[in-house]
Amino acid sequence: MRASNILVFVISALTLSSCSGRKFPPGFKFGAATAAYQVEGAWNVSDKSPSIWDTFTHDHPEQILDGSNGDVACDSYHLWEQDIQLAKDLGLHFYRFSLSWPRLLPNGFANHISEDGSRYYNNLIDGLIANGIEPMITLFHWDLPQNLQDLGGMTNPLIAEWFGAYSRVAYTLFGDRVKTWSTFNEPLAICDVAYEGGKLAPGIASPETGIYLCAKNLMIAHATSYRIYNEEFRAKYNGKVGIVNHHVWFTPYSSEYEELTHLTRDLGFLYSHPIYSETGGWPPSVEAFVASKSEKEGYSTSRLPKFTAEEIEFVKGTADYYGFNYYTSRLVREANNSTVFAWPSNGNAELNVELIPDPNWDAGLDWLVSYPPGIRAQLNLIREYYGNVEIIITENGFSTSTDELDDVTRTQYFRDHLEQVLLANTEDGVNVTGYTAWSLIDNYEWNSGYTSRFGIVRVDFTDPLRSRTPRASAEYYADVIRHHSL
Ligand code: NOJ
Repeated sequence: MRASNILVFVISALTLSSCSGRKFPPGFKFGAATAAYQVEGAWNVSDKSPSIWDTFTHDHPEQILDGSNGDVACDSYHLWEQDIQLAKDLGLHFYRFSLSWPRLLPNGFANHISEDGSRYYNNLIDGLIANGIEPMITLFHWDLPQNLQDLGGMTNPLIAEWFGAYSRVAYTLFGDRVKTWSTFNEPLAICDVAYEGGKLAPGIASPETGIYLCAKNLMIAHATSYRIYNEEFRAKYNGKVGIVNHHVWFTPYSSEYEELTHLTRDLGFLYSHPIYSETGGWPPSVEAFVASKSEKEGYSTSRLPKFTAEEIEFVKGTADYYGFNYYTSRLVREANNSTVFAWPSNGNAELNVELIPDPNWDAGLDWLVSYPPGIRAQLNLIREYYGNVEIIITENGFSTSTDELDDVTRTQYFRDHLEQVLLANTEDGVNVTGYTAWSLIDNYEWNSGYTSRFGIVRVDFTDPLRSRTPRASAEYYADVIRHHSL
């Protein structure tokens, strides 16, 4: 089937709504995202050193559904010009990608900057700009240099200094052209999910303490990076720096779980509250909960390390926008003995909650159940908690296990979620200014390897050239962007 025929087929199969034709506000931006480990490949090219994901996938293929790794992935290290062309054909306003820390700084430290690494990112940035696409950079999308992991990684408080130095290099090299930055992508995955069961790199299970050492260090590292930008770069470059949080929308399973749902939501704001709340610090309900539990467990101090008064001030206010990744929703109820604590994990073991999809929601692949009103509800909740902060949806997307081009379910997912974003903006007045589709291209989906496809562009992983073919969802998205409406 030709691509244009596929689009007609897909659009006629979509459930349309009253929002069809309604415009996004002028200035609202559309983008698509990827991340270094998931697309670049070239894991040992030139002077790049291994990241924790190189080590983890090489040493523990049994943790990955198809036993694969990101050694080659989409080979975007070599095929970046094709990625830019795809982004241009879509009409994207911006492209969100991440820097590989060990590609740019092979020692992890700032004493040696890789020439190849910086050339690669300079080419990508310049190529995007030459094609009218804004680059948006994530500094840390999970691929910590292995040698820093060997020194404790995210559980060593010195990570703040190391991350600060790395950020300064990135801001110095690219800050003249890159105006939107995020420090960490999904602290929830970096700390909670990784340290909860050791199923993500670095493969260390430390559910009681590792999670929270990571959490506190990450907050300080984020703030260090933000403050470096503020003090050394903002005046000349005038960009924005934020952090990207993943939120699942939680509602009570039944009215008796209202309070438990509030606590679950508050835990979801663990990495937001210290930055965006007026008081700063951890969400009080969560801080009290973990402190009292730790005491009962016989710990001498809370497992969630306290911020000092000085640290509270240091972290407070350190974001110019709120980065929000949304995929799915869950109902909340108390866990019982048979509960399996699985992703989307949000401290469910800590809180002893079971997070379950409503059977009426559309089941997607694995954990990804589609509930479009969840994105609007969570946007409103962010505003309720932190006022009318600018929100950029930094990821939203849908996976399939097959690689068909006429991806009706993915297209429907985008349409329904975009509609809810539009309503949040135009009806509810939420200050949401951008939307990012995950992902521009099929890529390495962490524990699912290449079995889970998120791309609006298909990548043929059996082809040494990693050929890329836009799906119907790409054409649909291009149409939305072109008309600035659904
Ligand atoms: C969020 C992560 O940032 C991204 O790396 C991942 O591929 C998507 N979720 C889909 O699971």
